[in-house]
Amino acid sequence: MLTAGPKGTNDIMPGEIEKWHYIEETVRDICREYGYREIRTPVFEHTELFQRGVGDTTDVVEKEMYTFRDKGKRSISLRPEGTASVVRAFVEHKTYAQPQPTKVWYMGPMFRYANVQAGRYRQFHQFGVEALGSKDPAVDAEVITMAMDFYGRLGLRDLELHINSVGCSLCRPGHREKLFEYLKPNAKQLCNLCQSRLERNPMRILDCKEENCREISEGAPMTADCLCDDCAGHFEKVKKYLDEVGVSYVINTRLVRGLDYYTNTAFEIMASDIGAQSSIGGGGRYDGLIEEIGGPPTPGIGYALGIERIIAAMERQGLEWPAGRKIYIFIAALGDEAREAAFKLVRDFRREGLTAEMDLMGRSLKAQMKFANRLDSAYTLILGEEELGKGIITVRDMAAGEQQELPLTGIVDYLKNKNT
Ligand code: HAM
Repeated sequence: MLTAGPKGTNDIMPGEIEKWHYIEETVRDICREYGYREIRTPVFEHTELFQRGVGDTTDVVEKEMYTFRDKGKRSISLRPEGTASVVRAFVEHKTYAQPQPTKVWYMGPMFRYANVQAGRYRQFHQFGVEALGSKDPAVDAEVITMAMDFYGRLGLRDLELHINSVGCSLCRPGHREKLFEYLKPNAKQLCNLCQSRLERNPMRILDCKEENCREISEGAPMTADCLCDDCAGHFEKVKKYLDEVGVSYVINTRLVRGLDYYTNTAFEIMASDIGAQSSIGGGGRYDGLIEEIGGPPTPGIGYALGIERIIAAMERQGLEWPAGRKIYIFIAALGDEAREAAFKLVRDFRREGLTAEMDLMGRSLKAQMKFANRLDSAYTLILGEEELGKGIITVRDMAAGEQQELPLTGIVDYLKNKNT
């Protein structure tokens, strides 16, 4: 127990973390370019926020939430997703009173007590964006385009963008009724959970992964067949904007997404080559959520992607990771005085923005040289008592395999100039 992390969690070790940094940098770049600003919300919230926001008939809330009572007897849940928290913060800080839209992004751990398998974890990480305050279909298209640009920038290929419209509070009741009528005769064959959902929220049944439920809902009426004029018009415009920028998509009328807050546009991005958990991102519009959480009626749309799944997809596609920053300088020092001088020297290098290390294990000179090799240092400096006495230092260019003696005094500037 003590030597293994909880099931469904992962350590991101040095060697692996550089990939995360690369993705995080790409996130920051693209968000800046698209005009999204970062928001950081807590990793836990009042349970009610997710029950009301995400929906208490969803798998996420019904089965997968990490919920506990804190010492003050409040019901608290680890966040299973980021949208509800962003909306809560938007209402709490009255951001709606500022010029709209509000465009924010976030990145961090999310928690779902899911069945663990490749690509499905209990602590996983999302990058997400939310654009609040505008109903304009251009915002839908912007969010979708940004997602596709992000994948493209990482070099991912062969992705499928699925889009659908799940309607609004006007056209949904009609669909709900038709769906209920369609499913009712086979109600007893549905899984227990779907039987309980039939009255409460039959649309959730379209999202059930159970084989039986899928078969029963095969020919069911879809939201796309029941859209009101506004929703149909909105969807047409979103598609037009996507066509305009050459973002290709598949219309998937079965796509309802696993969270309750969606209205109008819903979308998901699939990578065919990462196995069963092929959804590498998804999102949609949620025009009723802000009001549901206690804010003024305000439209919103957003998207989130799973970073673990992105990394898996990139690895599967054999994409190159940009080389991480290497240990630039290693000082191999021998003898007390030389070690003291080396200690000062590494600090001088670091103060100039160079990466520098020295031996901290009391190794022999030979072992230090070997270690420098392992670190892949670009320059290894050798400083013994003799060099120190003469005021020089031996500089070994590891790639060229050449070495020279240089004055100790100018060494920082010398290597700083090489580091361009
Ligand atoms: P979601 O579809 O539940 O949407 O999650 C988004 C992405 O997070 C998925 O496409 C997947 O890549 C990743 N993901 C979800 N669950 C797991 C898991 N257990 N393990 C690993 N990765 C996972 C949302 O969370 C919405 N908040 C998205 C959104 C933002 N909609 C509007 N705004």
